[in-house]
Amino acid sequence: MTDSRMTSPTTRRGAAGTDGDVGSRSADFARASGAALSGERDFAFSLTDFGRIRHLIYQRAGIALAEHKREMVYSRIARRLRALGLTSFTEYLDMLEADTGETEWESFTNALTTNLTSFFRESHHFPLLADLVRQQGKPISIWCCAASTGEEPYSIAMTLVEALGTRPSASVLATDLDTQVLARASSAVYSGEQTGKLSQEQLRRHFLRGTGANEGKIKVRPELQQLVTFAPLNLLAPSWQIGGPFDAIFCRNVMIYFDKATQARILERFVPLLKPDGLLFAGHSENFTYVSQAFRLRGQTVYELAGKRARGA
Ligand SMILES: C[S@@+](CC[C@H](N)C(=O)[O-])C[C@H]1O[C@@H](n2cnc3c(N)ncnc32)[C@H](O)[C@@H]1O
Repeated sequence: MTDSRMTSPTTRRGAAGTDGDVGSRSADFARASGAALSGERDFAFSLTDFGRIRHLIYQRAGIALAEHKREMVYSRIARRLRALGLTSFTEYLDMLEADTGETEWESFTNALTTNLTSFFRESHHFPLLADLVRQQGKPISIWCCAASTGEEPYSIAMTLVEALGTRPSASVLATDLDTQVLARASSAVYSGEQTGKLSQEQLRRHFLRGTGANEGKIKVRPELQQLVTFAPLNLLAPSWQIGGPFDAIFCRNVMIYFDKATQARILERFVPLLKPDGLLFAGHSENFTYVSQAFRLRGQTVYELAGKRARGA
């Protein structure tokens, strides 16, 4: 898709935005559940196979898969078996464990991530971000560490433009473990349904509307896209080559997949990466208060460094 085939959107609104991947994965799940119920499966999938997968994804990405995810895991990894022309999970897992390259490991982790996201998800965070960046010294830098298909970092970038004006002295580093979602995020193309939470003014100011073959699609304008840099990053990696410190870290709806010990280690590593007045934004069901003493609650699912003096003190 090229920009020349995109025009400014006028009056498009749709259903609340969701990650398009979720649709296909829900379909997978429904198919797998149906198959399991009827006893039909393309491949045998033993408890041992499931246990090996749980162990490998936990080691690789920190993702702690619950027992009830067995059917979901079957359907997602069965796709890999079909793609590789393999006939059993055991064969696939033996091949994966023997693989010293990254290619199949990347497909394996991509298959097991959950990428649900939307524009301005947990909308109460964005006015707080706008207030913060107006007060902070420039340039502003934000890290979004589980960026998925890009709706979150582009929402951050829109907030920066709306708070600081066009061409703000600001940047957003958007990282994720899943290389497939990052490729979609970099393309910056969304369906009308995915942009449903955006106002007419936001659509007009920050997006181009597809025409012809791209009818119904929306693309982020280049000037907004330029504020965001996408890069792969595993939060479990022993070192993060990301610079910093940042004015804000968005770490939303990813810690829920990790156990408490992993969450605590990651939170400790955030401390030197946040400016003294910086904020850490968490997801709606994430509570870091009992995980780490390094942060204290500042508002609804928003944290500040515990080591800094209280505002106005
Ligand atoms: C449910 S999405 C959340 C997206 C967005 N932050 C939001 O709140 O809408 C979780 C994301 O975390 C990513 N993820 C899972 N494990 C990760 C890890 N070890 N390192 C970095 N990202 C990871 C997944 O690939 C997925 O895109």
